Amino acid sequence: MFRAMLCKDYSGPQGLALGELPREPLGDDDVRVAVHVAGVGFADILVTQGQYQLKPPTPFAPGGECAGEVLDVGPAVKYVAPGDRVMCGRAVGAFAEEIVVQEKHVTRLPDGVAYTQAAALRSAYGTGYYALQHRGHLQPGEVLLVHAAAGAVGLAAVDLGRMMGARVIGTVGSDEKAAAVRAAGVEHVINYRRTPRLRDEVKALTADRGADVIYDPVGGDLFDESLRCIAWGGRLLVIGFASGRIPSAPANLALVKNMSIVGVYFGSWVDHEPLRLRAHYEQILQWCAAGRITPHISSVRPLEQAGQALLDLAARQVVGKVVLQVR
Ligand SMILES: NC(=O)c1ccc[n+]([C@@H]2O[C@H](COP(=O)([O-])OP(=O)(O)OC[C@H]3O[C@@H](n4cnc5c(N)ncnc54)[C@H](OP(=O)(O)O)[C@@H]3O)[C@@H](O)[C@H]2O)c1
Repeated sequence: MFRAMLCKDYSGPQGLALGELPREPLGDDDVRVAVHVAGVGFADILVTQGQYQLKPPTPFAPGGECAGEVLDVGPAVKYVAPGDRVMCGRAVGAFAEEIVVQEKHVTRLPDGVAYTQAAALRSAYGTGYYALQHRGHLQPGEVLLVHAAAGAVGLAAVDLGRMMGARVIGTVGSDEKAAAVRAAGVEHVINYRRTPRLRDEVKALTADRGADVIYDPVGGDLFDESLRCIAWGGRLLVIGFASGRIPSAPANLALVKNMSIVGVYFGSWVDHEPLRLRAHYEQILQWCAAGRITPHISSVRPLEQAGQALLDLAARQVVGKVVLQVR
C-alpha cells in the first residue's frame, strides 16, 4: 500500500482526503515510478468533479503529471531502468507515492533538471512548444499574443515565445498577474478586465497589423476579440476554454483575414507520434537544464494540500504552476 490523495465521491477538490491505495500489477510495457513531485493542473479540477472525459472508478488519486525515480519496469521496457530519474504522466494517479505508466509516457531527466521543475513544465511547456512550433509555425520577429499569460500554459507560452524570438504581448485578468508577466520579460501586458475593446489595444501596439499568432487557453469573449485583432495570415491557436464558453467563428472572417484557426490537443499527440513526442520533451528538458527556459513555480506544497491547491487554481489565484511535494 502507498499514500495517496483520494477522490472518493466526485465531490470536487474539497472532497479530496489522504488515504492509501494498493500496488497495481505491472504490464509488459509498464513502468512503476516513485513519485517525488506532482504538478497541479486545470484538468485535475474537472477530474475530481466527474466532469472530465475520463471517469475512473472511485476511490482514485487524481493528478496528471509528476517526476520521480523508476522503481520497476515490465519485461518489454527498454528506454528506462530502475533508479532512473524521469518525468511522466497519465490522466490520473500522480497525487500518490507511486504511479504505473506506459513506457511511452515516460521521459528521462537530464542532470540539472530538478523534480520540481520537471513536474512543473511537462504539460505547460509540452503544450506550449507543440502549439507554437508545430501547430502555429511561430517565426522570429512575429507578434505573439498570449491570453491568460500568467496561467500555467500562458506563462510557458510567454517563456517559449520569447526564446523563439517573437515579440510577445500578454493579456491577464488582474494587475498582480500583469506584474508577474512583466517580470517574465513582457513589455506590453493588457488587463482585459480593465480594457473594454481588447482589439483596439492590440492594434495600437502593432501599428494596426494585429498579432501573427494568438495563443488562447480561455475561449469565450477573448476568442471573439482575437478574431478582430489577428494579422493577415495569422494563426489562432485554440488551447482551451478556461472561461467556460466554447466560442464559434464566422467563416467569412477566416477568409477575409486569410487566417487559420488551429486546434491544439497536445495530450493526443502521444497516440499518433510517440517517438517525436519523446524528442520534443527531451528538447524542452535540455533547454531547462541550460537555463534557456525557466518554469515559474509559485509554490511547492505538501501532498495533503492538493485539494486547496486545486481550489486556488479554480479561483484564479495561481501564477504559473503549483507543485506538490509527495516524498
Ligand atoms: N490543448 C491542450 O492540449 C491543453 C493542454 C493543457 C491545458 N489546456 C487547457 O488550457 C486551459 C488553461 O490551463 P492552465 O493549466 O494554464 O490553467 P490555469 O493556470 O488555471 O490558467 C487559466 C487562466 O485562465 C484565466 N481564466 C479566464 N477565465 C477564467 C475562468 N472563468 N475560470 C478560471 N480561469 C479563467 C485565468 O487567468 P486570469 O485570472 O488572468 O484571467 C487563469 O489563470 C485549460 O482550459 C486547460 O484545460 C489545454
